[in-house]
Amino acid sequence: MTTEALFSPGRLGAIEVANRVAMAPLTRARGDMEGIQTPLAVEYYGKRASAGLIISEATNISRQGRGYAFTPGIYTDTQVEAWKPVARAVHARGGKMVLQLWHVGRFSHASLQENGAPPVAPSAIEAGDMVFTEHGFEPPSKPRELETGEIDGIIADYVRAARNARTAGFDGVEIHAANCYLLEQFIRDSTNHRTDRYGGSIENRTRLPFEVCEAVAGAIGADRVGIRLSPVTHSVGATPFDSEPQKTYGFLAERLGTLGLAYLHCIEGQTRGANLPESFDFQALRRSFGGSYIANNGFTREIALTAARSGRADMVAFGRPFISNPDLVERLRQDEPLAPEAHKEFFYGGGSRGYTDWPDFVSR
Ligand SMILES: Cc1cc2nc3c(=O)[nH]c(=O)nc-3n(C[C@H](O)[C@H](O)[C@H](O)COP(=O)(O)O)c2cc1C
Repeated sequence: MTTEALFSPGRLGAIEVANRVAMAPLTRARGDMEGIQTPLAVEYYGKRASAGLIISEATNISRQGRGYAFTPGIYTDTQVEAWKPVARAVHARGGKMVLQLWHVGRFSHASLQENGAPPVAPSAIEAGDMVFTEHGFEPPSKPRELETGEIDGIIADYVRAARNARTAGFDGVEIHAANCYLLEQFIRDSTNHRTDRYGGSIENRTRLPFEVCEAVAGAIGADRVGIRLSPVTHSVGATPFDSEPQKTYGFLAERLGTLGLAYLHCIEGQTRGANLPESFDFQALRRSFGGSYIANNGFTREIALTAARSGRADMVAFGRPFISNPDLVERLRQDEPLAPEAHKEFFYGGGSRGYTDWPDFVSR
C-alpha cells in the first residue's frame, strides 16, 4: 500500500474521491447527430472508473451551444436516458463522475444550428480554426452578437442541463469556461467588445460565468459544481489572450470563491502544451478562489506525485494518457509503463477502435 498523497482519498465539496487522479474532459465525438451518447460510452467510462473523479467530455447544454458533430447533449429526455447507464457503470465500480457543461459560442457552424442560424457570441467577431460538421472540418460560421435580453435564457439552459445531469445520475457538473468557448469569449477583452453590463470592465466581462455558476449552484448545490478555466491558452481558433489575464481571472476566481463551489480546475498553460508556464501565477489564482484546486496540462507521473505531495494541487487531471490507459491510476501507482499516446485519428469520431479497445496492463 503506497502512502503517496496522489493516491490518498479526498473530497471536492460534496464529492468524496478515492484518489487525487482525475480524468480530464475528453471530447470523443462518438454520439449521433441528435446528441445521443453512444452505448459504447458505458464501457469506455466504466473502464476508467478507478480515477478519483471522471470529468465527462464536454456536453452541449442546448442545440445553440453545439459546435461539433456527434458530440453528446443533455437537453432532451432521450439524451438524459442515454447518459444514465454511463453514470451507473462508473458508480458500480466505485467511481465518481461529473458532467462537463458546454456552450461553444462562436465555434459553431450554421449547419449544426436550428434552421441554419448563425452561432451566437458576445460580439460578432469571426473565429479562426475549423469546426467538425457532418461533412468533415469546415471553418466556423460568422457569429451574431447576443442581445442582452437573451442572456437569461442561456443561464436557464445551464440550469436545466445541470438538473438533467443530476437526473442522469452524475455526482455534479463542471462548468466549461475554458478553451475559448462561450464563457471564455465573454471573459477575454479580445473576444468581448460589448457595451452592456456583460462587456467592458472586468466585472462586466466575468459577470456571465459568475451568474451561470451562481444559478447552477442554486439549482443543484454549490458543493456539486466545479468550474474549468484556461487563462493562458489560445486553444481553438488561435483566440488572443485577455490583455490582463492575471487581473481578470484573479477577479473572477475571487468572486467564484464566495459561492463555495466544489472546485476550480485550471489548464495550466497552452492546452496540450508544456506543464505550467511561468507567464501566469496559478497558485495566486488558487488562493483567490480559496477552495479545492485541480491542475491539468502535460502532467507526468513524476510531476503529479510532486504536485500532490507538495500540495500544489488537490487533484491532478490527466487527459491524453487516459485515452490509451484505461487503468491509468493503477499504472501510476505501480509505476508501470504507460501505453503510447493514442494516434490523433482515434481522438474524434468513429466507433470502438481507439476508444474502448485499449487493454488494462494486467490483461496484456
Ligand atoms: C481528444 C481531446 C479532447 C478534448 N476534449 C476536451 C473537452 O471536451 N473539454 C475540455 O475542457 N478539454 C478538452 N480537452 C483538453 C483536455 O481536457 C486537457 O486539458 C489536455 O489534453 C491537456 O491535458 P493532458 O496533457 O493530460 O492531455 C481535450 C483534449 C483532447 C486531446
